[in-house]
Amino acid sequence: MSSIAILDFGSQYTQVIARRVREIGVYSEILPFSTPSQRMASYDGIILSGGPASVFSPHAPLPDKNLFALGKPVLGICYGLQVMTHLLGGKVARSNKREYGRSILHIQIHEKLFAKLPDTIEIWNSHGDKVTHLPPGFRALAWTENSPHAAIAHESLPLYGLQFHPEVSHTPKGKNLLANFLLSICLCRKTWGMKSFASRAVEKIRAQVGKDNVVLGLSGGVDSSVAAALLHRAIGHQLTCLFVDNGLLRANESRILRDIFTKNLKMRVQIINAADQFLHALRGVTDPERKRKIIGRTFIQVFDEAAAKIPKVKFLAQGTLYPDVIESVPIGDNPAAVIKSHHNVGGLPKKMKLRLVEPLRQLFKDEVRKLGEELGLPKEMVWRQPFPGPGLAVRCLGPVTAEKLTILRAADSIVVEEMKKTDWYYKTWQTFAVLLPVRSVGVMGDERSYEYTIAIRSVQSLDGMTADWTRLPHEVLATLSNRIINEVAGVNRVVFDITSKPPGTIEWE
Ligand code: XMP
Repeated sequence: MSSIAILDFGSQYTQVIARRVREIGVYSEILPFSTPSQRMASYDGIILSGGPASVFSPHAPLPDKNLFALGKPVLGICYGLQVMTHLLGGKVARSNKREYGRSILHIQIHEKLFAKLPDTIEIWNSHGDKVTHLPPGFRALAWTENSPHAAIAHESLPLYGLQFHPEVSHTPKGKNLLANFLLSICLCRKTWGMKSFASRAVEKIRAQVGKDNVVLGLSGGVDSSVAAALLHRAIGHQLTCLFVDNGLLRANESRILRDIFTKNLKMRVQIINAADQFLHALRGVTDPERKRKIIGRTFIQVFDEAAAKIPKVKFLAQGTLYPDVIESVPIGDNPAAVIKSHHNVGGLPKKMKLRLVEPLRQLFKDEVRKLGEELGLPKEMVWRQPFPGPGLAVRCLGPVTAEKLTILRAADSIVVEEMKKTDWYYKTWQTFAVLLPVRSVGVMGDERSYEYTIAIRSVQSLDGMTADWTRLPHEVLATLSNRIINEVAGVNRVVFDITSKPPGTIEWE
């Protein structure tokens, strides 16, 4: 299978490069910038990412220089271009001024990298330093008003560099350019796609698991659902899914899962009703972090007990994704970059010594969704909004009680129903109801009321790390407010949260 290595110099866009390459149909992997060149020899080409550093800084991240002697095509992007220039004998000039934003690229030489592109294209820049002298044997392919060396290439070796970012959507022809690099220069074949991934993954799972049984914690989220469907295709009833109903779920959650997994996909799913145990453990607890800890601990107890009853179980399956396992190393003085390990191991039953099966480890979230569709999961499941592990407990402020959960669940299902009706559901990252521990006075008919308040939280986000509140149309908000107050007993006021993240968080607790 064709594959591309992407050396990570700490750019916020490294994962975007990897996704673009895969969208073109070529498998890509992200490696730390310090990877020894021999480890890159098996790839069809190498991309050097951008990054926040300057090649002049004492801690500048520099790669193994031998990578340029592997005979493999190399594409340096932004800082990657500067690294290539610096290591191969050209000159990079320090700059205190960043060039940031759109500009026009004038292409002089179309051969290969810019094949079939017009003479001028819109591009997006974000760089400080710039190349002033090309390394020996290099020539410029394209220029911008600010730089005569906006794109460069070696005259005879397959070495290329771009000062701008072809991976971002603000460079509209960037994907064509990357496709030229992958298909005409690296001579990759389009062998990456979810159909072929599914059949390879099925073989791999069968080889790993043999005749043993596998247990999987089905949460109802996209990742565990897709992992379950994939494992089921590979090993059928050797897979048992455990779904723990902790009493903190959205309305009809057990029924929805039963319909999709048990009725339609004919999978073996055990629904464990542990609502009383969770509510008992949460009684009187108001601190959000304590709520999370109690829920995590109780989940492990319930899950372990049920998993221990499954005969011949030797494996625990998890929906760990690629962003959780990408190796990273500290870049320069940036202490934020540490070696990541996957954090998804919450339910691992220790005593049973289960081995892990993680069939989605190579995939990005958008690929998981495509795979889910490929495996026949319905759109409502594959495009579900994220839902936190501690469930409604962190949306029910103050002590969690059965009465408050009933109110919140009813309000939340109206929110989800209306968002789906108006199609806003698929345009927002998350939209949900929060029950505030505040009662206020109202009039209902001729009577005074003194009831709870529901807050509606709706945000747009790419990854949940930052978010902005959704500018929902007033008519949609009016319908939500009317329906919640008329249909949910115990609520007489609805408010809309207009806080972005930061400074707020998406969840209220
Ligand atoms: P915050 O509230 O931190 O949320 O801005 C960011 C994203 O993470 C989800 N979230 C959680 N998910 N366990 C989870 O599995 C948690 O304890 C948790 N807290 C927040 C939240 O829904 C949002 O998508």
